Amino acid sequence: MKSIVHHIQLLVNTRMHTNVLRGAELALLPSIADAYLMIEDGKILRYGPMQELNKDEQADEWIDAKGAMVMPAWCDSHTHLVFAETREEEFVDKIKGLSYEAIAAKGGGILNSARKLANCSEDELFKRAMTRLQSLMQLGTGAIEIKSGYGLNTEQELKMLRVIQRIKEAAPIPVKASFLGAHTYPLAYKENHEGYISEIVNEMLPVIAKEKLADYIDVFCEQGFFNVEETERICKAGIAFGLKPKIHANQLHASGGVQLGVALNAVSVDHLETMDEDAVQALSGSNTIGTLLPTAAFFLRMPYQPARKLLDANAAIALASDYNPGSSPSGNMNFVVALSCIQMRMLPEEAINAATLNGAYAMELGEELGSITPGKRANLIFTKPVPSLAYIPYSFGNNLIDKVMINGRFI
Ligand code: NIG
Ligand code: FE
Repeated sequence: MKSIVHHIQLLVNTRMHTNVLRGAELALLPSIADAYLMIEDGKILRYGPMQELNKDEQADEWIDAKGAMVMPAWCDSHTHLVFAETREEEFVDKIKGLSYEAIAAKGGGILNSARKLANCSEDELFKRAMTRLQSLMQLGTGAIEIKSGYGLNTEQELKMLRVIQRIKEAAPIPVKASFLGAHTYPLAYKENHEGYISEIVNEMLPVIAKEKLADYIDVFCEQGFFNVEETERICKAGIAFGLKPKIHANQLHASGGVQLGVALNAVSVDHLETMDEDAVQALSGSNTIGTLLPTAAFFLRMPYQPARKLLDANAAIALASDYNPGSSPSGNMNFVVALSCIQMRMLPEEAINAATLNGAYAMELGEELGSITPGKRANLIFTKPVPSLAYIPYSFGNNLIDKVMINGRFI
């Protein structure tokens, strides 16, 4: 099956070869004005300026883009898409003045989601998560990472990971799974950290590895949650079972989580609202990607991540949604990109690179997705008529997506 898309106003993020982008490289977004794009068997075949398109070229299908911009679909490398119920009661508590930590301390937060998840069947969880995924795909998400972490015991964590496994099989887009058993201490283990860590290491991880239920090991490294030593032990246990780390670090405090992630050669360290000089320097020369989650900062009224500082330090940064019921109840990557430009002063080019190509690398999918590159999957966003690239983040909150293509087919 071969398709030719013609009359593309701007074909965005065209690259013959790719690697993760760092520092100043993120400002470069190679694009072709008035372009065509050929797709074969769901993959990008080639592309170029319209005047170089041979009108007699053979194809099964000609698609008139009618002046749309065409860009790679969003690669959302950090989500908690599998959850049972929303938590808008806590949202109202927060409006009244309670902090995220105060809500967690009174049994809300992650523990609230864990109680709700325990009462939800595997089939129902799968159905709810798939419904969310379908709407995210309509908003342009073309690859996604999903975490466990609302189970907090062996049975429920495995249930969550099996749901993610089913999503992997059912979804037309690539899905990566992270095991986040170390999301918080369940009440029964509040005073017995050893006991819970032992359950993670000796009971959960062996089954997860045997049944290949996860790609990554994640830990919420944070005061009141898992300290640096605990995070290190759990990550190393995961590594021993073949899982690479992707860590929640430096959300509420400069905990040392970023430095630990770098030392463990983590694929990414995520959140980064609270960065000290040492943490910035750690990312500066590292292959570990710093994944910024600005909608979590927005929703919790926290300071935004220091994107400019990280870019000046030549760090590799990605953008993700952190979609979850507590700190970012939206997985809309269009808003993530707009917010990054508005509040973190990322240039539109930088934000788009961070949410596409670097997001793909933050899921080890950089050779398959995230740019318009021959051989990569044709997971693409077709915009409505827009006057310029900068208009996309500028016009925040407006849905500028006309159509989304997944594996060469419109969904
Ligand atoms: O990434 N920070 C830890 N975990 C999630 C929030 C989880 C929740 O509140 O349910 C996050 O923001
Ligand atoms: Fe998260």
